[in-house]
Amino acid sequence: MTAGSRIVAMGHYQPSRVVTNDDLASTLDTNDAWVRDRVGIAERRVADGESVADMATFAAEKALAASGLSAADIDLVVVATCSAIDRCPNVATRVAARLGIVAPGAYDLNTACSGFSYALASADHAIRAGASRHALVIGSEKLSDITDWTDRTTAVLFGDGAGAAVLSAVPDGERPGVGPVLWGSAPDKGDALKIEGWQPYIKQVGQVVFRWATTELAPFAIEVCKRAGVEPSELAAFVPHQANTRIIDGIVKRIGLNPDAIVAKDLVESGNTSAASVPLALSKLIERREVPSGAPVLLFGFGGGLTYAGQVVRCP
Ligand code: UT7
Repeated sequence: MTAGSRIVAMGHYQPSRVVTNDDLASTLDTNDAWVRDRVGIAERRVADGESVADMATFAAEKALAASGLSAADIDLVVVATCSAIDRCPNVATRVAARLGIVAPGAYDLNTACSGFSYALASADHAIRAGASRHALVIGSEKLSDITDWTDRTTAVLFGDGAGAAVLSAVPDGERPGVGPVLWGSAPDKGDALKIEGWQPYIKQVGQVVFRWATTELAPFAIEVCKRAGVEPSELAAFVPHQANTRIIDGIVKRIGLNPDAIVAKDLVESGNTSAASVPLALSKLIERREVPSGAPVLLFGFGGGLTYAGQVVRCP
């Protein structure tokens, strides 16, 4: 039995098509200044041909290549997504087939925007229980498929993309790199964000979600650090769900980060990619070598459900 797991490597994928606020303003009653001021997004990527499984595969392929492991080492694939159109086969088995991973445990998980932290915890628990040694944990979303492009209140918010982590059991005597999860939900407010019915569109009562995120979540983020035995002031980086810079700034103000800590704001160039937003932002920080290896990073996802989850991880 292992003491826990650590993220060995990460990878990400975004479609090449960039859609700016000005592009959207050519067909919608919106403008660049409103979207930048109220949300913080300047542009997003929109998939043309790529599916949720395609983007998940491309991100996972990069993470696997960076990990030094091979497909034969992977025994578990977990995909967080709320936008996969096909129900069966699930995205995880499609990724496994494409990467030549033979006979892994493979499942999808849907907690919308908190999905990556739920998936990471679930794979970490499998490794701790001895059910896996090397797992692929992926967040992948094609929100453009479920966006109503005539609704300015949602069309400006979302983007497509994927991020992936390779998670491995830590060798005996080494400290785990994935801290205890804090997960939860506010089901009484679940109707504030919906993707309902056949051929659905995302609908949200933005102000309800905004108020919940800015008033209730900071104490949970602090509790995540406490469970990991890390002071918020010791964090090298904070990677929250990328929904709105005003929400991120509001949480940051209340958790007491060191002024030098990096706060991920990938939404400026990627929009809100739901379950992909945290792994996408983390993978980019790692690629740009902005966080030293071994440094503590707080991941914190929140959104539809309403659900939330977070953990402190050590940067690979
Ligand atoms: O990822 C899942 C979790 N989701 C979130 O965390 C999202 C949380 N919510 C938010 O981030 C914000 O509520 C939004 C960004 C969605 C909206 O910002 P807001 O500051 O709450 O705007 P609002 O809904 O109060 O709308 C203010 C005004 C309205 O006009 P009136 O009624 O004051 O005349 C809207 O019709 O802004 C108008 N508006 C827009 N104007 C230009 C709404 N969308 C747009 C737009 N362009 N795209």
